Amino acid sequence: MQRICTIILSIFLFTLCAACGQENQNPSENAMNDEASVAVRESAVDSSENVPIPEHFVLIEGGTFQMGSPEDEPWRSEDEIQHSVTVSDFYMSSYELTQVEYEAVMGSNPSNFLGDDLPVENITWLDAIAYCNARSEQENLTPAYVVEGDSVYWDRSANGYRLPTEAEWEYACRAGTTTPFSMENSPSAEEANYYGHYPYQIEENYFSQGNLAVQPGIYRQTTVAVGSFSANPFGLYDMHGNVGEWTWDAYGEYPVEAQVDPTGAETGTRRVYRGGGWNDFAKNMRSAYRATMDQDKGSFHVGMRLVLNASAGSGSVIGSAAQNAENHNAENILIAYFTWGGNTEGVAEEIQRQTGVDLFEITLVHPYSSDYNTVLDEAQRDQNEQARPELASHVENMEQYDTILLGYPNWWASIPMPIASFLEEYDFAGKTIVPFCSHGGGRFGQSLTAIAKLAPDAAMGEGLSVHYSGGSSLGDDVSAWLELNGIAVD
Ligand SMILES: Cc1cc2nc3c(=O)[nH]c(=O)nc-3n(C[C@H](O)[C@H](O)[C@H](O)COP(=O)(O)O)c2cc1C
Repeated sequence: MQRICTIILSIFLFTLCAACGQENQNPSENAMNDEASVAVRESAVDSSENVPIPEHFVLIEGGTFQMGSPEDEPWRSEDEIQHSVTVSDFYMSSYELTQVEYEAVMGSNPSNFLGDDLPVENITWLDAIAYCNARSEQENLTPAYVVEGDSVYWDRSANGYRLPTEAEWEYACRAGTTTPFSMENSPSAEEANYYGHYPYQIEENYFSQGNLAVQPGIYRQTTVAVGSFSANPFGLYDMHGNVGEWTWDAYGEYPVEAQVDPTGAETGTRRVYRGGGWNDFAKNMRSAYRATMDQDKGSFHVGMRLVLNASAGSGSVIGSAAQNAENHNAENILIAYFTWGGNTEGVAEEIQRQTGVDLFEITLVHPYSSDYNTVLDEAQRDQNEQARPELASHVENMEQYDTILLGYPNWWASIPMPIASFLEEYDFAGKTIVPFCSHGGGRFGQSLTAIAKLAPDAAMGEGLSVHYSGGSSLGDDVSAWLELNGIAVD
């Protein structure tokens, strides 16, 4: 407590001092109405604080924009409510942070795909925060964050490296555009690194290509060197695709009122990451699309991009502490799964064998076709319509369970729609959902974001992704995963 008071007091004093010497910073005075009024400056030195701006950082001149997506934007989510946001000037790295940059500061490289110029990935939000601070210290800047366990305080007046806010990120990504992507047309696989089989608005079944009006592009199945494609109008590379990028903000509903330099939800431990990654469909690379994950989890399609203040902000923002792992009692744990081909069922049965907990299959009143080509079309239709197929099976005593081990196959880089029906049927507030996913190479895709949005009040455990049936290592993988989540083996 004493520490917090000291921080708040010193921020207040610093802000007071900074305000004395600052020019008028009313952001509305340099409001951006069109692309032309946006200045991009490379390798500058910020005169207001004499902080040398590193190479490849560009000045993003602040302004006002419509954050979120218009209601008629194809594939928009309900959490993209458009509202007016003003952001102040800031500097942003033209490139996603590379592995060589990360390793030089942290001494290790957690990435899944290895290469100096590839973006660092597989870092948690907390890792990203630690990197910002460590690099600031190396360069004699004031760290932007104070980390106390899982709680993080952002000193907005500090001149150190930091993550963009969600609003800064979207403003920079849009670069004055109001279209779903910052390029004129939706990106082809030659313009961004993503799941190129599924360009925007031609998500029709890749597996029956004969019917497609536009031929899909390549799917690289890996990250690529940062800056491999053209920059957006602000001079920023890979804002769409390659890796998603952590932002400061905790995930929450947007306010409808106009905002100035918003910093996200006041509570919550799920952080927003933006821009989509190498394994995302184009629709999930849209400028307005919001992905979210627990702050202590990482993924091979999520990295980071650095920002520096252009002038000192004021105040501090407090990120709330992560929920601690609970003790799980076997009688309070339920395995609930949906399967089409049996792979997820096999994983569920292995979990049941190791734990002895209750097992529940999510089944449909009108099951999907057992024919592979037909189910592809049916599943895609359901996902396009965001359908909620009627469930045939129901958990009678859901209140008994505080932990749900939720299994599903990766369908179209997300959850099958029966999982959405299941998540909407019960109240998961106060419960922990621990996902396990069988996939054909895409691991979780956007399924964790989908679950987080459908069960916003549930805590999320560490997920397990299994390639098809999991092969000979399934037993070991399951027991390691159970241990990671504090679930006792029988
Ligand atoms: C309709 C459908 C869509 C699929 N989409 C994906 C996908 O986007 N990414 C992926 O890695 N695997 C995808 N797969 C493969 C399944 O995730 C994989 O085969 C899984 O093991 C199936 O689990 P199940 O046997 O429990 O149904 C898809 C399979 C089907 C039937």
